[in-house]
Amino acid sequence: MEKRKPVTILGIESSCDDTSAAIVQDGVILSNVVASQKIHEEYGGVVPELASRAHQQNIIPVVDTALKRSGLKKENISAVAFTRGPGLLGSLLVGTSFAKGFSLASGIPLIEVNHLQAHVLALFIKEKDAEFNPPKFPFLCLLVSGGNSQIILVRNYLDMEVIGQTIDDAAGEAFDKCAKVMGLPYPGGPHVDKLAKLGNPRKFEFSKPKIPELNYSFSGLKTNFLYFLRDQLKTNENFIEENKADLCASLQFTIIEILMIKLRKAATQTGIKEIAVAGGVSANSGLRNTLQTEAQKLNWNLYIPKFEYTMDNAAMIAITGMFKFNENLFTGQDAVPFARTQL
Ligand code: KG4
Repeated sequence: MEKRKPVTILGIESSCDDTSAAIVQDGVILSNVVASQKIHEEYGGVVPELASRAHQQNIIPVVDTALKRSGLKKENISAVAFTRGPGLLGSLLVGTSFAKGFSLASGIPLIEVNHLQAHVLALFIKEKDAEFNPPKFPFLCLLVSGGNSQIILVRNYLDMEVIGQTIDDAAGEAFDKCAKVMGLPYPGGPHVDKLAKLGNPRKFEFSKPKIPELNYSFSGLKTNFLYFLRDQLKTNENFIEENKADLCASLQFTIIEILMIKLRKAATQTGIKEIAVAGGVSANSGLRNTLQTEAQKLNWNLYIPKFEYTMDNAAMIAITGMFKFNENLFTGQDAVPFARTQL
């Protein structure tokens, strides 16, 4: 009997400020290379034009390194999967064009991937010789990143429904924008996380939104935080410096509370106890601890991806590409990137 050829997917991610390439073979990750762009730090946020230029410089060396680390040759690749959106158009264009060229030159199929769906499917990345314990369908996924805050009902790999989402800013944006006001470097989320460990989460009280159903809002908190600091600075110009840890702890506590209220509500409404979290903000230690405590209290089975698969990465694009490859869901050469999308 002829031996089945393994399914080997090259994944390409370039939706924001990380250029990444990964190789997945039959669901097992062989390599995942991420080149982060430092250039944006001095501007306090991602500058789209600079991001596109950096992607252009990074894409070939990153793919080359991913191939070398996988121990495979480009002839072994079954298909190339790329992030089609959502994201920054110029950045997406670099990954999309590279993937099209690679597909044409190698005579292999092209697979478009929705970045948000990929964040969820990061939960299914297998590592060689490591324990593999993915969530069982149906599960709820709290997707929290720099651009999105959503609660997703996941019925199957490619069958997902957004049942709640932010009507304005994302949770990551709330971290980053409030951090910027305190003079912390970009992106502020990890800095707030670090300082929060040293502070009192109940020292300051910030506003929580009253938004119906399972939706989120973070812009009110951002404004409340900004005005609070502005008022305090009028009487004490060192207020931020003197209270930084407590400010970070109280801000983080409020963001987590906002996220948890709707997640609890979604779990109660659907009766689902398989709960997962994905996206860059799921790296937050306070959120992880709160989720763990809540899971024990409410009998949830909790799933959190490994740190490197929560941030933007191509491993999640490659694994999503594999699920689409298995369903023969291929993309034509005429596909153009999209900046915004739904799942
Ligand atoms: O998913 P991701 O890598 O990409 C975007 O959607 O852009 O998420 C990046 C976001 C940023 O807002 C960053 O501040 C936030 O994730 N983030 C964190 C932490 N690590 C990353 N937020 C809070 N605590 C962290 N430890």
